[in-house]
Amino acid sequence: MAVDLLLGLQWGDEGKGKIVDVLTSNYNIIARFQGGPNAGHTLEFDGIKHVLRTIPSGIFHDKSINVIGNGVVIDPVVFVKELEGLDQFKIDYKKKLIISRKAHIILPTHRMLDAASETAKGKAKIGSTLKGIGPTYMDKTGRNGIRVGDLELADWKDKYRALANKHEAMIDFYNVQIEYDLEELETEFFEAVERLKELTFIDSEEYLYQAQKAGKTILAEGAQGSLLDIDFGTYPFVTSSNTTAAGACTGLGVAPNQIGDVYGIFKAYTTRVGSGPFPTELFDEIGADMARIGHEFGAVTGRARRCGWLDLVALKYACQVNGVTKLMMMKGDVLSGFKTLKICTSYTYKGETITHLPYNIEPENVEPIYSEFKGWKEDLTKMTDKSQFPKELNDYIAFLEKELEIPITVVSVGPDRKQTIFM
Ligand code: IMP
Repeated sequence: MAVDLLLGLQWGDEGKGKIVDVLTSNYNIIARFQGGPNAGHTLEFDGIKHVLRTIPSGIFHDKSINVIGNGVVIDPVVFVKELEGLDQFKIDYKKKLIISRKAHIILPTHRMLDAASETAKGKAKIGSTLKGIGPTYMDKTGRNGIRVGDLELADWKDKYRALANKHEAMIDFYNVQIEYDLEELETEFFEAVERLKELTFIDSEEYLYQAQKAGKTILAEGAQGSLLDIDFGTYPFVTSSNTTAAGACTGLGVAPNQIGDVYGIFKAYTTRVGSGPFPTELFDEIGADMARIGHEFGAVTGRARRCGWLDLVALKYACQVNGVTKLMMMKGDVLSGFKTLKICTSYTYKGETITHLPYNIEPENVEPIYSEFKGWKEDLTKMTDKSQFPKELNDYIAFLEKELEIPITVVSVGPDRKQTIFM
C-alpha cells in the first residue's frame, strides 16, 4: 500500500492536526516524520480541545497505531507531560504509540543553547519556539547527537555528560545572560527518560516496510509548514528540518516511489508566527480582525500570529515542491463578513512582474499584486454540505482550483471534527 502524506503549505498552523484526526479512521498507522515539540497540533471533538506536540494526531482513535519516526526530535520532559495530558482520555499509549530508535533526543542544554543563540542574534533573531529544535538537529547533522536507541545502552549517560559539557562551553561562548539550573533540569530530564523507556522502541523503517507489505494503510503527518522548510523555506527564518514531502522519505525511511496522495493543507488566508518576510502581511484593522476572529495565537508559545491575505505565488511554490495531489482549505469561516477579499497572484520583483517565488521575498525586494473578490456574509460554521455555500465562496474556491490546477477536496468551516465539508 502507498503511504499518503499530509503537510502544511504555508508557515505552519494550517490546521493539520484537525485534518489528520478527521482522516485517521481511513488509516491503520499515523506517522510523524520531522520536527518536535515546536509543533502544536490542535484537535477538537466532543467539546474537548487538545494540543499535541510530538505525539501523532491519530492517538485519539481506537484502532490506529502512532509512530514517531527517525526524523523527529523528542524532548523527554515535554513528551512525558504530553503523555500525562492523555491520561484523562484513558488512552492505552503503551500499545498505540511506538518510537523510532533513530529519533534524536533534545537535551536540557539544547534548549539553553537555543535561548543563548537567539539572545545573541538580537534583532536578527529567528523567533524560535526555544524548544531546542535547532541545536538538536545541529548535533544530528554534526554526528554528535543522542538517539532514542542510545538510551538502551549501559553507557548512554557518559555520552550525555560529554555532550552536555560541550554545550555548556558553547553557551559560555555566546557570552549572553541565560539563567538556568542544570542540576534541576537534569533531574527532571533523567526521570522523564525513564518514563520514555517504558514505551516500545522500534526500527521504524523496517516496521513501516513490513506494514506496507502487509497492506496496512499509512498516513505520514507533517509538522510546521513548507515555507519553514530548512531548504525551501524563507531561510534563515525557518525551522531546522525538511517539512516538505521529501522529509517524509528521510524521516520515516519510506521510498519515494511508495508515496501515494499528498494532501496539502492551507488556510484561506495566511499567518506567520516568529520573524521573517511575509509579503501579504496586513498591518491594518483587517489583519487585526483576521487574528481576532481566527484566534490566531500560537498553540505552543501563545504568541500572536501575523495575518495577511492568501499568497498564491507562495502556495503554488509549495504545491510544486511537495507534488500536492489534493488540497484542503482551512478556516474559510474566518473570512465571513469581509467585504472584499484579496489574493496575491504575482509579485513586482526588481521592476518586473513575476509569478514564481524568488530567492528574496523581503519587503524591499517584492511587492504583492492582488486580485480582488467579493466577500460573503454568511456564517459558514453551521453548514454541513457544500450545497449551502454562498456563491462568493464557490467563486473563491473555483479561482484557486483553476490557478493551482489541483482539486480542493475539503473545506473546513470550524475547529471541530464535525465542521469539515468534503467536496
Ligand atoms: P524553531 O523550529 O522552534 O526553532 O522555530 C523556527 C521558526 O519556525 C520560528 O519562526 C517559529 O515561530 C516557527 N515555527 C516552528 N514551529 C512552528 C509551528 O509548529 N507552527 C508555526 N511556526 C512554527
